Amino acid sequence: MITDEIKEVFIEKFGGEGDIRTYFAPGRVNLIGEHTDYNGGHVFPCALSMGNYAVARKRDDNIIRWFNMTYPDNGIIVADINELEPNDNGKWYDYQEGVIWAFQQNGYQVPSGYDMVMKADLPAGSGLSASASIEELAAVIIRDLFAINISMEDCAVMGQYSENKYNGMNCGIMDQFASAMGKKDCAIFLDTATLKYEYVPLNLKNEKIVITNSKVKHSLADSAYNNRRRECEEALKDLQKVVNINTLGDLDEDGFEKYKSSINSGVSERRAKHAVYENRRTIEAVALLRNGDIKGFGDLMHDSHVSLRDDFEVSCKELDILAEEAWKLPYVLGSRMTGGGFGGCTVSIVENDHVDEFKEVISKIYKEKTGLTCEFYISDAADGAGRIDNY
Ligand code: GLA
Repeated sequence: MITDEIKEVFIEKFGGEGDIRTYFAPGRVNLIGEHTDYNGGHVFPCALSMGNYAVARKRDDNIIRWFNMTYPDNGIIVADINELEPNDNGKWYDYQEGVIWAFQQNGYQVPSGYDMVMKADLPAGSGLSASASIEELAAVIIRDLFAINISMEDCAVMGQYSENKYNGMNCGIMDQFASAMGKKDCAIFLDTATLKYEYVPLNLKNEKIVITNSKVKHSLADSAYNNRRRECEEALKDLQKVVNINTLGDLDEDGFEKYKSSINSGVSERRAKHAVYENRRTIEAVALLRNGDIKGFGDLMHDSHVSLRDDFEVSCKELDILAEEAWKLPYVLGSRMTGGGFGGCTVSIVENDHVDEFKEVISKIYKEKTGLTCEFYISDAADGAGRIDNY
């Protein structure tokens, strides 16, 4: 077990005495609703069974001592919880420290530091929200070790707050929400304007959700993400001059077509078009899934990819190859890029009996076309972050 292994390292580095506790926070895959979460739209992610695990024990002073078995070369990170400074270095410990800082900034008392060893079974930088998983891991550790009275929804909010304000990444709430609030065998239909959500059972009897990792992460992905967000905000400002809306999510397709000429730049218009149409697709896709129409759901995944590729321009050659080749296969019901884009993963719905064939065909073509070897993960939808030892 991965947790036994982590505990052994914890004892070796920090000693075995006292109240040592074990935690897990999952990564996520988003089924549909991409780049809608900072536009007041809907998203439909589920938590994965892969994520980050930690073993932790509180200390009596303000010091943190952390070791990550996934990055052993970083050694033991030592810091004072009252001297944390926002930065955009993007190291694993920056995401974890950011959450302590976010709790402090939002009036939660973090009374002391803690010793911690962690390890991931989720690939970082692949669009499966490894960083949100680290943030939610930190949130549940702090919440539990110091018995802080905070809901899991607010743990998600703390994660987003820290990523925005401590790590300089202007992300929406989807990833942290999925990691904090995941539920076994369900996806989360979340309205990011209100944070109202519903769990929708993924009753896939004849199909599996297959994640394909392109194994590329293009540089500048973070700055491109922040640019997309800015372009959407510009479009919203222009639209607000002619129509009374709070977010792009308040418009439907007809509303967008009616008012789109008020948007000053062609680029912002295409970004806003994606945000509006993707939000409507997400609402429709969930209704189809509830009616058992997996084929209809898959068709909307296709449309989502096309819109992300052409209007939002966050796909890349490698993701396009993976999705477009998957669309050609009769046993694939839907396939699209998932997450922020510019590399990372696609998500596909594949008939059970053809999963092996899917992997073979896609890896062969992908290798031929890119020279790269892709990786596949089949993960059930899993529960959200929390303490996982028996207590
Ligand atoms: C990243 C962000 C999320 C969301 C997606 C795109 O994963 O962290 O908030 O915006 O991109 O849907």
